[in-house]
Amino acid sequence: MTAVFIASVCGAAAGMSALLIFLWLGNNLIKTTRYTVKLGGIKNGVRIVQVSDLHGKLFGAHNEKLALKVAGLKPDFIAITGDIIHRYDKKNVKAALETASTLSAITPVLYVSGNHEMRNKGYGFFRKQLIEAGVTVLDNAALEICGITVVGLNGAHNKNGTLYKIADDRHNKILLAHMPQYIDNYAAAGYGLVLSGHAHGGQWRIPFLNRGIYAPGQGLFPKYTSGLHKKGDTVMIISRGLGNSEFPIRLFNRPELVLVDVLPDGSDAA
Ligand SMILES: [Fe+2]
Repeated sequence: MTAVFIASVCGAAAGMSALLIFLWLGNNLIKTTRYTVKLGGIKNGVRIVQVSDLHGKLFGAHNEKLALKVAGLKPDFIAITGDIIHRYDKKNVKAALETASTLSAITPVLYVSGNHEMRNKGYGFFRKQLIEAGVTVLDNAALEICGITVVGLNGAHNKNGTLYKIADDRHNKILLAHMPQYIDNYAAAGYGLVLSGHAHGGQWRIPFLNRGIYAPGQGLFPKYTSGLHKKGDTVMIISRGLGNSEFPIRLFNRPELVLVDVLPDGSDAA
């Protein structure tokens, strides 16, 4: 009886340890997903690394593991697509600023806010600190970089994406917009490529079916949580993000860095 009891306790402890290791790895090992997209109106290829939905999470001290991964991908610029902080927690502001500063030392960093920044009462000051850390904040603003115009749509204005559009030669424009569910608006505004996040991959993913469980603004079994989507001439890439917000744990959904090679339309490269 005693031996059976001890074996049961040991079995339960081993099972619990295995589960904890599985969850830790699934929430802390960064996966890089690569895409190639062709865009009209550009002369040279551009490599972008997208960092989304960090929510103040640290991968190593000062986010050095994340920075090493990003630097190893050799991007021409980094696009942060919102929710680098959490709406309530003040602690993660320090981590977010350290990360912004570290990434800015690698290559230019463009940033657009998400819904969490919009709800954070300290966002005005945080935004100023981001700029001081070397980040270009594109809250309803545009920047010409590497021969491409990149437009950022403020986290409060995603729903009205058509309000912020550039009328001429639009298909060589890249839009950074946090929320993917407004793809119709982004396509109507004529952007060639949209980089988005917000859904955290649906937080828990169903293996083999490759579907997420839930995303804010889309509900259960949401359509726009991950991957490449097309609407007319617009391509949208959704990052599953790196951190967590209300759901504290990811399941079958590793933190994700996105690499996009943007090539001139008509180039032979795949
Ligand atoms: Fe988020």
